[in-house]
Amino acid sequence: MLKPPTRIIGLIDMDCFYAQVEQREKPELWGKPVAVVQPSGPRGALGGVIALSYEARRAGVKRGMMVPQVKACCSEVNICVVPFGEHADKPDINKYRLASAEVFEIINTFDERIVVEKASVDEAFLDLTQLVEEMIATEGRDEALRRYASEWKTIFPTSHLAEGADKNDSYNREESFERWITGHCATDFRHLSILVAGEVIEQLRAAILSKTQFYCSGGVATNKMMAKLVCGRHKPRQQTLMPHEYASNILDKTSIQDVRFLGGKFGQSVCNRFGIETMGQLAAINLSKLEESFPAQARWLYEVARGHDEEVVKTRNLLGSVTVSKQFPGKRALAKIDDIQFWITGLSKELCKRLHEDQNANKRTATSLILSFCTTNWKQYSKTLSMVSYNPDDIYEIAWGALKLLNKATDKKNWEPPLGVLTLSSSRFVGGVLSGTRTLKNWMKEGGETSNIEKKLPAIVSSRVDDQGWEVFNPDDLEDVNTEAVNAPWETGLGSSVLPNALGYDPAFLNELPEDIRAELLHEQRLNEAKVLQVKHKPIDAKVEAKGNPKQRQKKKADLPVDEPPKKKIKDFFKKD
Ligand code: CTP
Ligand code: CA
Ligand code: CA
Repeated sequence: MLKPPTRIIGLIDMDCFYAQVEQREKPELWGKPVAVVQPSGPRGALGGVIALSYEARRAGVKRGMMVPQVKACCSEVNICVVPFGEHADKPDINKYRLASAEVFEIINTFDERIVVEKASVDEAFLDLTQLVEEMIATEGRDEALRRYASEWKTIFPTSHLAEGADKNDSYNREESFERWITGHCATDFRHLSILVAGEVIEQLRAAILSKTQFYCSGGVATNKMMAKLVCGRHKPRQQTLMPHEYASNILDKTSIQDVRFLGGKFGQSVCNRFGIETMGQLAAINLSKLEESFPAQARWLYEVARGHDEEVVKTRNLLGSVTVSKQFPGKRALAKIDDIQFWITGLSKELCKRLHEDQNANKRTATSLILSFCTTNWKQYSKTLSMVSYNPDDIYEIAWGALKLLNKATDKKNWEPPLGVLTLSSSRFVGGVLSGTRTLKNWMKEGGETSNIEKKLPAIVSSRVDDQGWEVFNPDDLEDVNTEAVNAPWETGLGSSVLPNALGYDPAFLNELPEDIRAELLHEQRLNEAKVLQVKHKPIDAKVEAKGNPKQRQKKKADLPVDEPPKKKIKDFFKKD
């Protein structure tokens, strides 16, 4: 028997987020079809669509389309191009990140009894259990019910009850809502709790709108999976509430691929294995059958199919790292020393710019610098170095100083083997701000202006090194570096999207993606890592001096299947050229 749910969970998801950021910047675009597209090079042709206003969606424009296709669907479309970074030749998503920070500032300070978990750039899970309990206790159940009965139209202007029929043509929002308030909510505390949470989410969404001009949608249910699912039910600018009682009504007709963590390859393999499409069909499969095919995930699948999900909302706010990265796919791989120096210079400047913004916004200072790169044969290397200052020249010196020892080419011009991805990532934050003149080392010695952030962090400099000071990317080691990565509940170990991955997605970009898409990409990445780790680790021959007495580490072998990288629909989102 599954335990009856005891929590009240909300999800806020911004509507067509990047498109709204563009609309706020150019107010004449509100109410118009807008498509945000990726630049593919400073002067090159434009990349694919990554965000669309709902007006553009109504005209048939889809994510991933290229500009000519978009214009063919909708001739009056307004195209907004993601800007290029000032220092590095790559898309700069900073303005969306800053807009996201505005939204999170409101969510995080709305009520201290709400536990907030940032799930992506435009999405947060909220545990409302404590707040709702206290609200009902303070106002009194009967008083709350009286207030709702007379004022529900103004308290719940955008709320829907998800009971199954809310997707029928004959659905009437107000009728259905009023019937629920005066019926189930009056007699069943669990329904009333969902309703009260709905009031909180209406208010929070109104606060976000009035302070930022951004619209969002909301979901309320008894767990994360259902809150996320119902949030999408009446998008945009609406919210949907689901008491647990209606979970099977909703799930019966829900496509498996629409459920959190089932949108990708894993969900597809579940569908294929049993020849099913809906969550209702999944619920008809018994636990032992599930265990035969998916031993690690069977229990989770069994519960989710019945509308249960135990995953807790974890406080997650600040990003654990600031990362800049650049890919050099195929023939663009870097094979000249000059080019590598040029890019490290650009990335160092870009990283500094980002670090200063982070410092202003979050009053913290990074103490470690991770240099990582990928060679064209997919080998990934990383090295943790100490930050000296927030000065691009210093960062360049440290990064190039470490990298230059690895060149296998014998002449002074070329670089062997060519590099496919270069990444600089800063992490290990301590509380406080380093002023311009002091070095980080002295500041640290003096004790910094340390706050409690420091206490939560692991030791400052890692020595995850082999005898030559480098290691092949082992994701298990990096959990403490980045708090943003999202694993499916049955997965453990893969804790980071800091490093460039074998698929070549930009990690900084990855971090901002919706969690489902990111989880899917990380899954792919995992398969590739299995490959990387199976190649017996032999660092590039180099005259690297092993510093100090580095700890020898036994590399963990990944017991993962090794597949060819799958060709998947999410690839389309990332179309480059
Ligand atoms: N995003 C992206 N690349 C993707 C998917 C999403 O850059 N492959 C960005 C989008 O530009 C988007 C933001 O992440 O604005 C949030 O994604 P998501 O919530 O999935 O979509 P929205 O555009 O916000 O649209 P919706 O109203 O459906 O939530
Ligand atoms: Ca969104
Ligand atoms: Ca989202």
